[in-house]
Amino acid sequence: MLAAQLRRLPQVRGDVADVCTGSGALAIAAARAGARSVTAIDVSRRALLATGANALLNGARVCTRRGFLLAAVPGEAFDLIVSNPPYLPAADAELPERGSARHTEAGLDGRLLVDRLIAEAPRHLRPGGLLMLCHSSLNGEEATVAAMRGAGLSPIVLERRQGPLGPLLAGRAAALEARGLLSRGVREEEVLVIGGGLPNFAPVLRIELVVGGRGAGG
Ligand SMILES: C[S@@+](CC[C@H](N)C(=O)[O-])C[C@H]1O[C@@H](n2cnc3c(N)ncnc32)[C@H](O)[C@@H]1O
Repeated sequence: MLAAQLRRLPQVRGDVADVCTGSGALAIAAARAGARSVTAIDVSRRALLATGANALLNGARVCTRRGFLLAAVPGEAFDLIVSNPPYLPAADAELPERGSARHTEAGLDGRLLVDRLIAEAPRHLRPGGLLMLCHSSLNGEEATVAAMRGAGLSPIVLERRQGPLGPLLAGRAAALEARGLLSRGVREEEVLVIGGGLPNFAPVLRIELVVGGRGAGG
């Protein structure tokens, strides 16, 4: 979803950062879409090695930086910041420091990284720039819209796709129900792609509702 959306954004032709890059799929998509430069950020050395190798295999120019969200690029600004961060609601209030949980878990409501990224992004966006991220409806669409407004970004839901809960979320459905994050008996979620633009950003006004897609990565 994010890769398809980023290809439609005029900002993708400028300087692009892919935060929580993982295998580098979004960074490579941005390079292929004509980005002037692409910076792929991750806390994991292994993820950045994979990103470097995948970029090489795909003939894409991608610069890798290791660090916690945008702290990896102090003082740098971008036209587009894209992120598919870990956003699963976890049993633990703290972020995991290592292991596979670091790829998925993001605090009790799954918003630890989403909220921090939204707060950091305006300092790293050029005028007209855009932050675009995705998360599940379980994390709260309204919370993201409010956080973006609070950070001075104009929010827009670029795409929503409804489908069954992913396997990790389905496995903790009872706990999520008990915590009020999932309505009783519901086993579906929406994956949302939400943009937050600085004033004068060029919005993409097509909002898609795709029903029957797959669940989120979790
Ligand atoms: C959901 S995966 C990313 C998937 C990838 N962006 C994609 O769309 O295919 C999560 C990645 O976030 C990274 N990550 C977790 N916490 C991070 C943080 N605080 N700062 C930067 N990267 C982080 C993990 O190491 C992992 O590679």
